[in-house]
Amino acid sequence: MGYFITFEGVEGCGKTTQTKLLSKFLTTRGIGTVLTREPGGCPIADKIRAILLDAENRAMSPLAELMLYAAARAQHVTEVIHPALEAGKVVLCDRFCDATVAYQSFGRGIDRDIIDKLNIQACQGVSPDLTILVDCDPTLGLARARRRIEATSGPREERFELEELAFHHRVRDGYRQLAADQPDRFLVIDGSDNINNIFAIISKQVSIRIPEALRAVC
Ligand code: TMP
Repeated sequence: MGYFITFEGVEGCGKTTQTKLLSKFLTTRGIGTVLTREPGGCPIADKIRAILLDAENRAMSPLAELMLYAAARAQHVTEVIHPALEAGKVVLCDRFCDATVAYQSFGRGIDRDIIDKLNIQACQGVSPDLTILVDCDPTLGLARARRRIEATSGPREERFELEELAFHHRVRDGYRQLAADQPDRFLVIDGSDNINNIFAIISKQVSIRIPEALRAVC
């Protein structure tokens, strides 16, 4: 089996940049790495992503939203994550099941039991070995995310950026609670630090934690 690393955090925390840097770091060391993201990561899940993030879909009910994230995850695990782990790869995923707990339970208020049960079904036995939480004040994160959206010419994926600040604070609190509950799996990093300092911590921790067989050349 390979090694599964997920990245989590509020909008604009900088996790996507760090995921890409880590992918390059591992790949240049000869480690088979698959870089993917949620929602999305394969053609069917990417279509679901477009529905989920479209700012015009503000009327989407919390339950419909939850089911769509679960559907996208079920397809992504089946098509991408599970086969890559079976093939002994390091899989880096920009958001995964913890995002559903943070956003749909802490953020939207859906019963945690429903979410845990759906996550179990959608994940099909796959669970992260390491989760890197790039912790960041939502005010700072949202300012960064909005600058990025303004600079993008493609489809506007901003349904969550339009949520009120209190929503993003609940999401952040949810992530911090998840990390406190599972300290062995989570690595919490201060997202207000600069990109290079953050990456120095991540690359060091990943090099230590990655299984011997995979880090032969790390
Ligand atoms: P991204 O901006 O990191 O690509 O993530 C897309 C948005 O989807 C982000 O606002 C967080 C949200 N999200 C959930 O609400 N639940 C989930 O399960 C996942 C994976 C993402």
